[in-house]
Amino acid sequence: MKRLFILTISAMFALSFLHAQTTHFLSDNHVMQRVSTTSKYLLLPIEESRENDHVRILQNQKVVKEFNCKLAMNKIDYFVPLHLDEFAGKEILLDITISRGNANEQARHTATKEFICWKAMKYADTFDMQNREKFRPVYHHTPLYGWMNDPNGMFYKDGVWHLYFQHNPYGSQWENMTWGHSTSRDLMNWTFENDAVMPDALGTVFSGSAVVDKNNTAGFGSGAVVVMYTSAGQSQTQSLAYSTDNGQTFRKYTGNPVIVSNTPDFRDPKIFWNEEIGKWNMILAEGQHMKIYSSLNLKDWTHESDFGEGYGNHNGVWECPDLLRIGNRWLLICNINPGGPFGGSATQYFVGTFDGRKFMCEDAPEVTKWMDWGKDHYATVTFSNAPDERHVAIPWMSNWQYANDVPTKQYRSANGLPRDLGLFSYQGKTYCSVKPSPEVMNAFASKPVKRLSDACRVDVRLRANTVITLSNGQGETVTMTYNAKNETFEMDRTKSGDTSFSSNFATVTKAPTYGKINTLQIFIDKSSIEVFDADGKMAMSNIVFPSSPYTQLTVKGGKARIYKLK
Ligand code: FRU
Repeated sequence: MKRLFILTISAMFALSFLHAQTTHFLSDNHVMQRVSTTSKYLLLPIEESRENDHVRILQNQKVVKEFNCKLAMNKIDYFVPLHLDEFAGKEILLDITISRGNANEQARHTATKEFICWKAMKYADTFDMQNREKFRPVYHHTPLYGWMNDPNGMFYKDGVWHLYFQHNPYGSQWENMTWGHSTSRDLMNWTFENDAVMPDALGTVFSGSAVVDKNNTAGFGSGAVVVMYTSAGQSQTQSLAYSTDNGQTFRKYTGNPVIVSNTPDFRDPKIFWNEEIGKWNMILAEGQHMKIYSSLNLKDWTHESDFGEGYGNHNGVWECPDLLRIGNRWLLICNINPGGPFGGSATQYFVGTFDGRKFMCEDAPEVTKWMDWGKDHYATVTFSNAPDERHVAIPWMSNWQYANDVPTKQYRSANGLPRDLGLFSYQGKTYCSVKPSPEVMNAFASKPVKRLSDACRVDVRLRANTVITLSNGQGETVTMTYNAKNETFEMDRTKSGDTSFSSNFATVTKAPTYGKINTLQIFIDKSSIEVFDADGKMAMSNIVFPSSPYTQLTVKGGKARIYKLK
């Protein structure tokens, strides 16, 4: 009894609701709300089917922050935390413009003051980030809460892999682009650090990249981490920010923006040091081609050339480029949306040479090469400053066709497994090889186990024709077929579980294997299946939403071994 009392008292302190009198309903689309900042968070209730409301946070009559979120009208899908500790202990005023545009909402005529969000908003000192949703992966990076798309600004320094990502801290759908930040020592176990690069008056923070400026070429300090990203405001412009505490916090460069253009799609700068010319290079996407620049100080950029017109696939906008030297070749990565081989977004690449000014593709213009033959592999770019001249890439494991609608709530989207890129040749042509990074392989025990689980690796020795089936008690199945004669591998997820959220989801994805392949490595993690040829000639990443985990594995014409996480 006594214990119960203590618990109740502490719960009262931990969570308290706003007083009704602090909320002022000025009209059906305007609310003002006074908020004290003595607690750590104000938890905002979100209803995803609504349109976005606009929240301005005022302190001393100045706007100190603004964002969009869908405050709950009739139903709470989840809460998002507004961090109050940023406001230096002084009271703030939320100045909220309520959206009344949604036809669905208009039909229901819920007056703004009847929205359930006003009573449900609460002060708290803790926010439960132990997300227990059933589709949350075990060994893939996910945001602790909120929406995620592209990996950004990835770099390695002093034994730590830094992964920034397009984050919406105020909802689990795309909005309010901010760079979230996670770190890892082994590319498998990630710690969320905080949001690191925030929107400002130039716009929200779209994708970009990072370098470690060892020789202080920019003057921000030797060893400073310098990031370049797209400020997405009225136009898309390129901005710099830098960190002198190993990527934990960033200051914006006062001369932003550093590059402007009058083209609407002008974004996703990838910067890298080019030893051969003793300069920085940068590649960024403009419409349906890439622009290449050079610089001595990361601030002043010279346009060198454009690449892409007439080359590869042009059925969508080119985004998120990368340009890296592998041996005596250069690999130009070009993410494209839509235009992917199975609809929506995907990653194409070009192989060629680069002299610091111009990229020359060695294939005929009509050749298109895909890096991954699944439907959920996008915005893939590599880490800067990786050890041992490795080219470690991380994709976003979703597709713009349905990313906002997949059946998760408190978070949306995971990254694909880290993979090391290389080159291989087949019939006189050079292709990009893709293998799970050694750290990924090391995360699994070396002794096989009998049972399939929802977070494991399955290695399959292939014979001429092999059919691999995963299934559960509900009759949901994923079928994978290797056909040696046709040199193809395919995965059928049409009966994999919930496919109802988008007519674009139920698909069969099919890859060329460029000759025979011997061993497949299949990584299953709750809601994803990534398949790699052990020699790197084929990769296929697909997400799935089974109503219960696949427990049965059958392999016809091959031999499987199952490995658990260590
Ligand atoms: C790719 C992309 C980028 C952009 C970002 C915005 O998925 O559209 O081109 O910078 O997402 O979130």
